[in-house]
Amino acid sequence: MLQCITPAVRLSGSIRMPGDKSISHRYAMLAAIAEGASRIRNYSTGADCASTLGALEALGVRIERQAGELVIHGCGLEGLQQPRVTLDAGNSGSTMRMLSGILAGQPFLTRIAGDESLSRRPMDRIMRPLEQMGARISAREGRFPPLEIQGAPLRPIEYELPVASAQVKSCVLLAGLYADGVTVVHEPARTRDHTEIALREFGAQVEVRGRRIAVQGRPQLKARELSVPGDLSSAAFFLAAALLAPESELVIEAVGLNPTRAALLDFLISQGADIGVLRLEQQAGEPVGDLLVRHSELRGGCLEGELTAALIDEIPVLAVLGAASREGLLVRNAAELRIKETDRIATLAENLSRLGVRVEVAPDGFQVPGGQRFRAAELDSFGDHRIAMACAVAALAAEGESLIAGAEAAAVSFPEFFDLLAQVTC
Ligand code: S3P
Repeated sequence: MLQCITPAVRLSGSIRMPGDKSISHRYAMLAAIAEGASRIRNYSTGADCASTLGALEALGVRIERQAGELVIHGCGLEGLQQPRVTLDAGNSGSTMRMLSGILAGQPFLTRIAGDESLSRRPMDRIMRPLEQMGARISAREGRFPPLEIQGAPLRPIEYELPVASAQVKSCVLLAGLYADGVTVVHEPARTRDHTEIALREFGAQVEVRGRRIAVQGRPQLKARELSVPGDLSSAAFFLAAALLAPESELVIEAVGLNPTRAALLDFLISQGADIGVLRLEQQAGEPVGDLLVRHSELRGGCLEGELTAALIDEIPVLAVLGAASREGLLVRNAAELRIKETDRIATLAENLSRLGVRVEVAPDGFQVPGGQRFRAAELDSFGDHRIAMACAVAALAAEGESLIAGAEAAAVSFPEFFDLLAQVTC
């Protein structure tokens, strides 16, 4: 799909984001192995979270899709059934990496595959700990999907994560549910903690001490009624577009503001962004609030170390903001960007240069000088949802009409993105 974007003077009004992608995956997986029927409101509309539901159904979980609500009939910890087909994770790294933790504890063999992009993403990072726990896993070239996971009675382990990855942490914690005893994960940098919070909500015992997370095996998980907060990573595109367009004043309602994700807001505010939190409440352990954003001139800055891990999904759109800021954006320690849905350093640099923006690429990051203007261009998502949406934000600030090829990729996390953008821009 070729999407045409014309420049915007302002974003205004009040909008809501689809349910948070990360939280949706976790609620669905935990509801599937809990006892009883869970009701989940505002489940993500993205294709990635639909992949998780499809995989769970193939494992014998009954899921009713009602208006604005899912009912997931949990099978209990031991109730999943061997699928007759290869599970399809689609484009979703979260589906494959986190679900593998559950599959490792099943008394059967499961095959799980993904699309072309996912088939190039490394899975050895989850294979190592799951094999230590007792599962047997084979992969293409020893590390790429499809995976064949022979589940087993698992042993608890104490695992030092070699990379700061919430998906890998979650995979080990979910496998820990099937181990006799306490499974411990140490993370090198703090990553999103939705799994820890959701596990507690469903009744598991989780202890967090600094960067050490321990989960007690073989809990009895209980069905829950839950509402998924709006997705802050999706909101990031609207925040960025509103910051750029000169007359903007936009409200984004009911967004998840978990501190392990909200580093985005702190980073933007520290650069001079006019963003306020209008209302804050807790929903099942997750902070949720309304955001008010107004156009602002940004200073620019540097993203490195632990901040890179905390903002990893937002870097494409932060690069766009960086180019328009006074001092630009320097990103370091972000080699993980190269193994996302695309090599995001490469796909971002390609699109920025099409927009006439200078960018210097490094193996683990890039630098975008500030004070740059965007010229209208033919852009390409390269099949990556966040690149498609970051391109749209840049195109709104360009001088003229831009085209984005492969814009349909946005549906991986945010199918309503282009419609919603058209609604609030003028
Ligand atoms: C996610 C963790 C991050 C993030 C991804 C979602 C999650 O991936 O990029 O979009 O829900 O746990 P990594 O664990 O690979 O850092």
